[in-house]
Amino acid sequence: MFDLELEGKVAIITGGSDGLGRATAKRMASEGARVVICARREEHLMQTAENLRKETAGSVRGISADVCVPEDCLRLIDQTVQEFGGIDILINNAGKSAALGLEELSDEAWQDDLELKLMGAVRMCRGVVPHMRKRGGGSIVNASTGAGKAPGSMALPTSVSRAAGNNLTKSLANELAKDRIRVNAVCIGLIKSAQWERRSGGDSLEGLYKELGSKVPLGRVGEAEEYADLVTFLSSARGSYITGTAINIDGGLCPVI
Ligand SMILES: NC(=O)c1ccc[n+]([C@@H]2O[C@H](COP(=O)([O-])OP(=O)(O)OC[C@H]3O[C@@H](n4cnc5c(N)ncnc54)[C@H](OP(=O)(O)O)[C@@H]3O)[C@@H](O)[C@H]2O)c1
Repeated sequence: MFDLELEGKVAIITGGSDGLGRATAKRMASEGARVVICARREEHLMQTAENLRKETAGSVRGISADVCVPEDCLRLIDQTVQEFGGIDILINNAGKSAALGLEELSDEAWQDDLELKLMGAVRMCRGVVPHMRKRGGGSIVNASTGAGKAPGSMALPTSVSRAAGNNLTKSLANELAKDRIRVNAVCIGLIKSAQWERRSGGDSLEGLYKELGSKVPLGRVGEAEEYADLVTFLSSARGSYITGTAINIDGGLCPVI
């Protein structure tokens, strides 16, 4: 039997109302974890939490928060601890696509991206680590992309923010290993989610996925559930000897290991 031992564990998933975060919340709640999802749009978040409770018969709580706002991160963490008694798992999943060239990007656009993808994760990690120590350990998974390891052209500022996130992942894995807190990153390629639905802008979504998939060695885009499976495994007792890694989940798209 392959027991993930997630029953009763408390997990925060940022950006859990859509796409990859939603699929991860569903997977973890199905495994018996008590899941807290956050996002900025409160009504949509609460509806997602309710739907996930019905779909899984599990524990899914929505707490609205913007990871770019320090007070929101603290409130999210405090409320989770008050309601569930601690925190075992953090998935820094909130993010959005930003892939442009040097001359198209203002200072503000650079700062916004770093704020969301790097500082959001920094704040959440800083906030949850004392609670994980009290539990005798924990697991943090940071969403990243292959461009953080191997930047192409016109992939700014994401490729830089994600490279910083990968460095943060390794730095924290080194710092927190003594506390039995594992820290890993997952480097995403092209995976079906709400962001692609928005970007298809009324054109055929299947057509877009087919076109994107033709660039991938495995010949298709990924499913949100495939991301959820990896993140859930890394967060579980079955991933107990894995820390300080950045694992590609991209059908072979990233040119480096
Ligand atoms: N899907 C892909 O192909 C792909 C590729 C590379 C990387 N990624 C990364 O994977 C992660 C998940 O992406 P996705 O494709 O699932 O995107 P998505 O479908 O657009 O979902 C993004 C989620 O993040 C939330 N969010 C955005 N900004 C936030 C903020 N400041 N604070 C809190 N929540 C926030 C959104 O809700 P609100 O808008 O209501 O806040 C939503 O729940 C992101 O980090 C993304 O950059 C995805």
